Amino acid sequence: MQEKSVSEAIYFRRSVRIYDPTKLIETEKVKKCINQAMLSPSSSNMQLWEFHHIISEDFKNKISKYCFNQPAAKTAKQLVVVVVRRDLWRNRLSSNIRNIKSTFSKTEKIESSKQEKKALYYYQKLVPLIYSDFIGIKGFFKKIYVKIFGIFKPMYQEVSSGDVRVITHKSAALAAQSFMISMAAIGYDTCPMEGFDSKRIKKQLNLPSASEISMIIGCGIRKNNGVYGERFRVPSSETYHVH
Ligand SMILES: Cc1cc2nc3c(=O)[nH]c(=O)nc-3n(C[C@H](O)[C@H](O)[C@H](O)COP(=O)(O)O)c2cc1C
Repeated sequence: MQEKSVSEAIYFRRSVRIYDPTKLIETEKVKKCINQAMLSPSSSNMQLWEFHHIISEDFKNKISKYCFNQPAAKTAKQLVVVVVRRDLWRNRLSSNIRNIKSTFSKTEKIESSKQEKKALYYYQKLVPLIYSDFIGIKGFFKKIYVKIFGIFKPMYQEVSSGDVRVITHKSAALAAQSFMISMAAIGYDTCPMEGFDSKRIKKQLNLPSASEISMIIGCGIRKNNGVYGERFRVPSSETYHVH
């Protein structure tokens, strides 16, 4: 079957709450969609996400129980748990630095050495400034600094611990959407969920307490009554603004 175009996939995607028990989905195809999700942009290319692909029936039932057995989880054939791993920032930072060094080692030009210095400065000095924090104390002082010096010149404002949390969740949510659109392109249905007991699910997945669950995505093929009603959107006059 031919894949849907981006527009077709976007229109096809609905949050499906009831999946057809008789229609199977292929694990490899779902895995391919997860790999496509990993091609999503992420803040500073930090890729502070993880995708836990739940394929075993037994495991799925356990996770579903912690999603309060809502139909989108209970009837799903598989689940994908999108996890935010802010705690891995040093590790991802090192990967980016290694990548910069290896990329620039292949080129000799003087111009590229300037670019390398700039890129290394960004990852070695600026990114740690944003991510490093000690129980929010450093973030508090960073915020005060920004508030004072931001009066005199434009400054990056998102420096507190809470801001970093938003930064990491934004990127994970983009990846979740890429995953759902990739699934829609091959006629597979999904439902993003945030109604779950994150503490119990983290324990079930052996995740550290510093990790956070962005979303759990139910996957399967829709039943006729699997979509609850017509798509509803407020008028774009309320949400679209031209300047
Ligand atoms: C972050 C997020 C969390 C959501 N959580 C749930 C959920 O826990 N259970 C559920 O049935 N739907 C959940 N939804 C689905 C929304 O209700 C749904 O996207 C919205 O009603 C629009 O419908 P549509 O996706 O079919 O266009 C969630 C959606 C998002 C983006």
